[in-house]
Amino acid sequence: MTGFRTFYDFGSLRSFLNEGAKVPQIGLVPTMGALHIGHVSLIERALKENDIVVVTIFVNPKQFNNPIDLEKYPRVPEKDLALLNVYDRVVVCIPQVNDVYPENDPYEKIELGLLDTVLEGEFRPGHFDGVAHVVHNLMFYTKPSKAYFGLKDIQQLSVIKHMVASTKRPVDVVACQTVRDAHGLALSSRNLLLNEAKHKEALIIYKTLSFVKSNIKVLGKEETLKQAQAIFNQSSLELEYLDVVNQTTFGPYKKEGDDNVCCISAFCEKVRLIDNILL
Ligand code: PAF
Repeated sequence: MTGFRTFYDFGSLRSFLNEGAKVPQIGLVPTMGALHIGHVSLIERALKENDIVVVTIFVNPKQFNNPIDLEKYPRVPEKDLALLNVYDRVVVCIPQVNDVYPENDPYEKIELGLLDTVLEGEFRPGHFDGVAHVVHNLMFYTKPSKAYFGLKDIQQLSVIKHMVASTKRPVDVVACQTVRDAHGLALSSRNLLLNEAKHKEALIIYKTLSFVKSNIKVLGKEETLKQAQAIFNQSSLELEYLDVVNQTTFGPYKKEGDDNVCCISAFCEKVRLIDNILL
């Protein structure tokens, strides 16, 4: 079962995957397309750990609380397929909305608690319900053993782990390191929307996070965040939030803990960028 293939619905994907004498072990890499090196690193890890890697490309309308953001989201399917077709054991699925969300939808909404009310949860109401729903359904229809997500979206990762535990989906959620460019900017499909000058200005995000990581143990939370914000404010970016929390529960930061994370969200012109650093 080798050779790059593309499918446009789950039915034909499943028939293909069930063709052989033995059902292959599947690694799922869900994406919204506009693929970059960060996605490639997830795919390459998944290739090492599975027989077949299913990459889904689906710009999920349910996770956009802002219709303009949904409309502007970069869509470059030809480029995506050109990037992927060098992989022999990669299968791409580009499903339609009614395939992901059929009338007989297999998802039963779960409570997300704190994860849905702080930071990303606060600023993007409904976003994580949409993420939990789509990832559940993608797992339901592609039947992976493992699914791969980047630590860049750390709150999303916690939501997905919570959804998998609550719905008892038999899938291992694998967290993969954030991939950064040479200057520290976390790779994101949204970076495609930045021109060269804005790209440079966006580096303040990683500078601010690095400041927090280096200083929080000595200066404490309040003072570190105050100074970090002053550094950030020298840029033209607009800060949405900068905070430190527990990296699993997203509950309060505890000085003694070694499982904290500093999260940031900012607008670079109209492009919303998020990032984080483990403390
Ligand atoms: O991180 C993303 O690209 C999306 O949120 C995901 C996980 C593919 C769900 O649509």
